[in-house]
Amino acid sequence: MKVAIDGPAGCGKSTIARMIADNLGFLYINSGNIYRAVAYLSLREHVSWRDASSMIALMQRHRFDYLPDGSVLVDGDALLRELRSSEVDAIVSQVSAIPEIRREVNLIIRQIADAKNVVSEGRDITTVVFPDAELKIYLDASTQVRAERRYHEKVTELKDHLSIEDIKNNIEMRDKLDKEKPVGALKIAQDAEYLDTSDLTIAQVYEKVYKILMARIAHGRK
Ligand code: DC
Repeated sequence: MKVAIDGPAGCGKSTIARMIADNLGFLYINSGNIYRAVAYLSLREHVSWRDASSMIALMQRHRFDYLPDGSVLVDGDALLRELRSSEVDAIVSQVSAIPEIRREVNLIIRQIADAKNVVSEGRDITTVVFPDAELKIYLDASTQVRAERRYHEKVTELKDHLSIEDIKNNIEMRDKLDKEKPVGALKIAQDAEYLDTSDLTIAQVYEKVYKILMARIAHGRK
């Protein structure tokens, strides 16, 4: 079974996807981390994201795999913390906007997911990567709420530099990039369940998603 979750930055999709994976024994695939691994490699190997053909060549020089904790294995080395650096944050949207990179990443995700029960989250999982997923969820929340959530996730020293307003501006910029990409843009799939989580706790969101999922599983067995 494939569960696909999309939504903008800070909507809570990683937390919910991970909870489903832990509770139901599904494999959790954070697709953003694969784009982040490509961005990380481009920095490490001094390949400019502006040069699409060198970026594809870069991807083809390495072997990508994935660990259940969200780490991306590149030639057998696990990357996780490195994927969250501010340098990676600064270029990952641009890297993920390159159509050929998206094609390669989609192949990697489908290969990792092959014949498994999977919950995967990102921006185009419900629309492009797994258009036939048995369950599609679109999670949303207001920019203010998403900025507050991100602010409270940040470590103390970062809070000294970034206000909620700064984070909100950054989220608005990322939303625009995510929604206006020529390929793989963030969209609400016609057959997705839409959930606005602005006024919900994580536990309440999980309960709603879990109920929908159980109903789908029961329906699938009929
Ligand atoms: O979810 P995230 O913020 O870690 O994602 C990192 C970047 O990758 C972000 O700019 C959106 C992009 N992304 C994408 O274009 N498609 C996906 N399926 C997942 C992430």
